[in-house]
Amino acid sequence: MAWALTPLTEEQRSIQAVAREFAATEIAPHTEEWDRESYFDPAIVGKLGELGFLGMMIPEQYDGLGVDTLTYLVALEEIATVDASIAVTLSVHNSLPTQMLLKWGTEAQKERFLKPMARGELLGAFALSEPDAGSDAASLTTQAVRDGNDWILNGTKAWVSSGTKGEVILAMARTDSPEDRRGARGISAFIVTPDLPGFSVGKKEDKMGLRASPTVQLHFSDMRVPGDRLLGQAGSGFIYAMQSLDNGRLGIAAQAVGIAEAALRHSAAYAAERKQFGKPIKEFQAIQFKLADMASRGAASRALLHAAATAKDRGEHITQFSSMAKLLASETAMWVTTQAVQIFGGYGYVKDYPVERLFRDAKVTEIYEGTSEIQRIVIARELYSR
Ligand code: CAA
Repeated sequence: MAWALTPLTEEQRSIQAVAREFAATEIAPHTEEWDRESYFDPAIVGKLGELGFLGMMIPEQYDGLGVDTLTYLVALEEIATVDASIAVTLSVHNSLPTQMLLKWGTEAQKERFLKPMARGELLGAFALSEPDAGSDAASLTTQAVRDGNDWILNGTKAWVSSGTKGEVILAMARTDSPEDRRGARGISAFIVTPDLPGFSVGKKEDKMGLRASPTVQLHFSDMRVPGDRLLGQAGSGFIYAMQSLDNGRLGIAAQAVGIAEAALRHSAAYAAERKQFGKPIKEFQAIQFKLADMASRGAASRALLHAAATAKDRGEHITQFSSMAKLLASETAMWVTTQAVQIFGGYGYVKDYPVERLFRDAKVTEIYEGTSEIQRIVIARELYSR
């Protein structure tokens, strides 16, 4: 049933196979329990690190695998097919903090943070949103004030994936002054680590889905950040975050493609074994049409995602492409998992079968790293910008 839409190279196929095998043997036996217990397993992340999956797009000179975006995404799809929580942990780490350090970090910052992150020894997180700054990310209020060589940060970041385990957090804060607000241009990016005085982990969210991925608030209370933790140029942090989200949204699209693929597989298998009115329900056209539409929409999402990935690897501007891939894949994942629950009927509404979890996991792909409404805004804006 796997859709072979983009001809993959031998290397891409072999990394995809490693991810598939790892997901089937190391993750699948625990997915249900981790979801039920809302348990994040650091050991599994360590093992993924040993395989190089935490440094996928980091060049070998910084201890990464140095593969292209498409290779990274096909591996991510495989993980997401089995466990969307592990997939988002990988996606955030590989797409956001590591890429920010790679693009805008100094050599010293790369040595200290990027290399161990690429080796899987330190897990990355990304802290842009705040309790009152979600879609309107530029309205964030966490304030950084200069104090000698250091910065003092005060504020609360929200919806931070891997926040309880994140050892290197790329956090956005205002560096403009209240008297001279500069909007998006008044925001800078800082490399935050949990050992900084004034850092604390706040509320852990009790989520509908992705229960094995911890999502938390982070509190910065007079948190002293050494001056060499500023990333790139002061005032450019919002631009860095937005550019990184162009990558991040591809990762979320891959996660959504994986969720949809899993829902299709489970539904097709169930339809073949479940009998009603004296025959397997796959014999009924009502079910066949659902499966056909699920497969077609899933294939379209994957095709668009892979096209966006190859455009990125050609060095093209992908802001619009990335938002399109994320929009289509996430809405498809929600639609496909809804059909899956319907095919399973009552059994789809209980935890005996995985489609109930897939349905819950799919929802957030329409929300985080920019809601579907924000993706539509980005796509529409880009129609007029070039
Ligand atoms: N690439 C480069 N620069 C970009 C950019 C991009 N994709 N998007 C915007 N910019 C630049 C603009 O060019 C502009 O620069 P100038 O100052 O030079 O003009 C600056 O950023 C401000 O841009 P806008 O005027 O467009 O800003 P805006 O306030 O209108 O907001 C937005 C734009 C698209 C709505 C943005 O706020 C947005 O994407 N919101 C959604 C937030 C989001 O995705 N949050 C995700 C949270 S992280 C998360 O979920 C991770 C996780 O844990 C899973």
